Amino acid sequence: MTNKKKIKYVIILLIVMTLGIWIASRWNVWFGNPEEPAYVVSKTPTRILLTMGNSGKNSRAVSWTCDTVLTEAYLDLVKVGAADTSHIKAQGQICKSRSGVSIIYNAFMDFLTPNSNYRYRVRNDSVASDWFQFATHRDSATSSCSFIYFGDVQDGDSNSVTKSLFREIFTKNKDIDFALFGGDFIERPMDKYWEMGISSLDTVATSLPILAIPGNHEYLKGVTRKLDRRYDYVFPYYLDSKLRKNHVFTFPFGNVRFYFLDSNRDFWNYYAQRKWLKRELDKSSATWNIVVLHHPIYSLKGSVNGLLVRAAFESVINKGDVDLVLQAHEHGYGRRATHDEKGNLTTPIYTVSYFSEKGYALTFGGDYDRWGSYYRYYQKIEANADTLSLRTYTSEGILYDDIQLVKDGETTKVLDNAKNIPMKVDLPETFIKQKGESKYQKAKAIIDEWKNENGVK
Ligand SMILES: [Fe+2]
Repeated sequence: MTNKKKIKYVIILLIVMTLGIWIASRWNVWFGNPEEPAYVVSKTPTRILLTMGNSGKNSRAVSWTCDTVLTEAYLDLVKVGAADTSHIKAQGQICKSRSGVSIIYNAFMDFLTPNSNYRYRVRNDSVASDWFQFATHRDSATSSCSFIYFGDVQDGDSNSVTKSLFREIFTKNKDIDFALFGGDFIERPMDKYWEMGISSLDTVATSLPILAIPGNHEYLKGVTRKLDRRYDYVFPYYLDSKLRKNHVFTFPFGNVRFYFLDSNRDFWNYYAQRKWLKRELDKSSATWNIVVLHHPIYSLKGSVNGLLVRAAFESVINKGDVDLVLQAHEHGYGRRATHDEKGNLTTPIYTVSYFSEKGYALTFGGDYDRWGSYYRYYQKIEANADTLSLRTYTSEGILYDDIQLVKDGETTKVLDNAKNIPMKVDLPETFIKQKGESKYQKAKAIIDEWKNENGVK
């Protein structure tokens, strides 16, 4: 063997070894799952959650967990002011997870009338829950839709801070039609995190429709990813709407149509979702179209990130009369408008947001117009006949972003009302704890440089 050949083989061997060591060091991050602690679920109905049904804006579903053995289950429903009680049969599903079993029940209410109050309870054999109450959409405002959007929550050790913040937010916003979570509602696919997530909503879980899309933290990692089996039964509108294993869902509310995508699936599933999204957008006659997905189309971390998600959905969204794209996952805040050929701001508007105590360092990719880190954020979105407003608040209730979309014939104008609201970009204290001093200093240097360039304090 010549010396040249020997050198070539050594280099190849070194590359293979380096790759091997790198893959071995990342194996757990990519494919490993922390063990799910053993658990025992309550023998009485628990984790009762009101959510959307599959038959339009006045349909609702309820999910709840009870025991490990299937029983006869019902939802008892009374329209306030009416004498009759309906007994809706519920379907129970045995949900085996890595360390235990629970039965999740679903009942669907497809015959509700608008502008009405309903009382309900759930029942397994003779064990019944308390009575709860909810209202259907106001008849006099058929074109309006108002909701709150939360990005990642992911409570790990305790949900007490989130619970009290939710209480304040929902008390302040009694006029909303529902709440929507943009994925990573729970930290990991484990029973204890389902308990934590649903209980953090307190009484809102049973009185206001709670909707969610899946995030990567609801998936079990592996060579191919697998959504936690409990997911479909906690949010049972997916049972009827998913395309094979793709969690897509569309529903109308007022003059808005929503499109939920599942960006967590392995990329070869994106084509089916793309086709579905295009078909649904083509059919839409809604004034406002809102797409929701977990991974940002334009990553806050720059153009290499999220390449496959962008390749799959960007052109369909940008050509498809979409007004708003709500995203999450990157634990930073970003808002980005589209620019028309004259440079005017137009739709789609893209936002990235999070409601987790975990904040990541911003590196200012993705051409976003407005940035934020340090706080937890939520968005209040109100759509009317020809205007849609999106206001972002910090968890402390401070207005952080404010835009308005106005329909003007075929075009949609974007009014940026946040120009005078100072941007706050900093690293949360938890960042130092999680990442250490040297990563903190590195991240801070990038932020300081951006602040200098943009005149941000
Ligand atoms: Fe995520």
